[in-house]
Amino acid sequence: MNEMAASIPAAIRGLSDDTIRVLERVPSAVFVLDADGLIRWANGRTHRVLKRSVESVVGLSAEALFGCQMPSVAELPNEPEGFAGRTTLPTPDGLRMVVSFRVTPLELPGFEPAEGCRAVFVQDVTGIEHLRAERDRLLQFATVHEVLPSLLHELKTPLASVLSSVELLIEDYEEPALQQSLFAVLQELRRMKLNLEGIGSVGRPLRAARVHAIDDVVTQACRVLEASARARGMVLHCQTASLPLLPFDPSVVRAVVFNLVTNAIQASVAKGRIAVEVSIEEPSKVFKLVVRDNGCGMNAEVLSRCRDLFFTTKANGSGLGLALCDAAARAADGQLRLESQPGQGTTVTLLIPVSAPRDERQG
Ligand SMILES: Nc1ncnc2c1ncn2[C@@H]1O[C@H](COP(=O)(O)OP(=O)(O)O)[C@@H](O)[C@H]1O
Ligand SMILES: [Mg+2]
Repeated sequence: MNEMAASIPAAIRGLSDDTIRVLERVPSAVFVLDADGLIRWANGRTHRVLKRSVESVVGLSAEALFGCQMPSVAELPNEPEGFAGRTTLPTPDGLRMVVSFRVTPLELPGFEPAEGCRAVFVQDVTGIEHLRAERDRLLQFATVHEVLPSLLHELKTPLASVLSSVELLIEDYEEPALQQSLFAVLQELRRMKLNLEGIGSVGRPLRAARVHAIDDVVTQACRVLEASARARGMVLHCQTASLPLLPFDPSVVRAVVFNLVTNAIQASVAKGRIAVEVSIEEPSKVFKLVVRDNGCGMNAEVLSRCRDLFFTTKANGSGLGLALCDAAARAADGQLRLESQPGQGTTVTLLIPVSAPRDERQG
């Protein structure tokens, strides 16, 4: 304790051993600032909170350390809480930490500071900031979840009637040029429908009570997406084995195909190749959908985070696609596998057991 007392500069000399003992026990880093805003003393917690030694901060300007202005004693609010702030600091290991700090006039029993001295109490709130960000993300999701169904309904209903009107018009008009234009319109409307389905199936179960021709569902979805791929100079090749009818919801399968193929198109450049394959793995009877591209690929960090809700690296991305596919796969006792190499491409594999384990137990 004496050693510490000896290091106390004249400006704040007068801190008694008892006071220093109290300041050393405070569960925050504590700095004493002189009238010029220089850190003249720091407690031992500084090292634990800021990951910096006491010696490395003493003598620094608090404003330079915190990157924001420290109010002078005259500017401090006339309340015991003083002035509170929050700032982001680099850590010695190259990361960033969020700290909250409180500046108060230095009023300690038995201590008479030189005029203008202040105390700063600093806490690491990085963990709290992460929790806050997570809460905001969940609130964002809850909002999307709440408004999305009615918004989609508003869009889907008129879209369905426009689609069937265009289908009828194509039958009525035989002039080739007009038919061609109407086909282009039809193609765009179908893509819009698939797009809405891609968003609208968030949270819907993939497994269904009734069986459907899932191979046809995948082929048709690819046919609609092929035009987008072709327009960007890419080739989309869809290879589906002839499958038995499967107890899967066609709209959820379409949503998965839409999301995976759209990601592949967005990751590729002209002359890129995208392959979609569908099969049943024997003898385990697992439905397998593979979407492979030779696009930009993902680095290890993106690969580890790409299924997180709202994680996106695109300026206009939603970060919903892979989260939706992953959630749908896991809810159906399956999995979504991702393999990717930066600059080489990405392969996404959806694996779903044809029958749910629950059914097998009942059977
Ligand atoms: N085929 C792919 N190739 C390269 N990166 C991909 C691919 N699929 C997904 N990603 C990465 O994963 C992120 C999340 O994808 P997704 O959940 O579909 O959201 P979004 O497409 O809206 O960004 C993308 O922003 C991208 O960085
Ligand atoms: Mg996507």
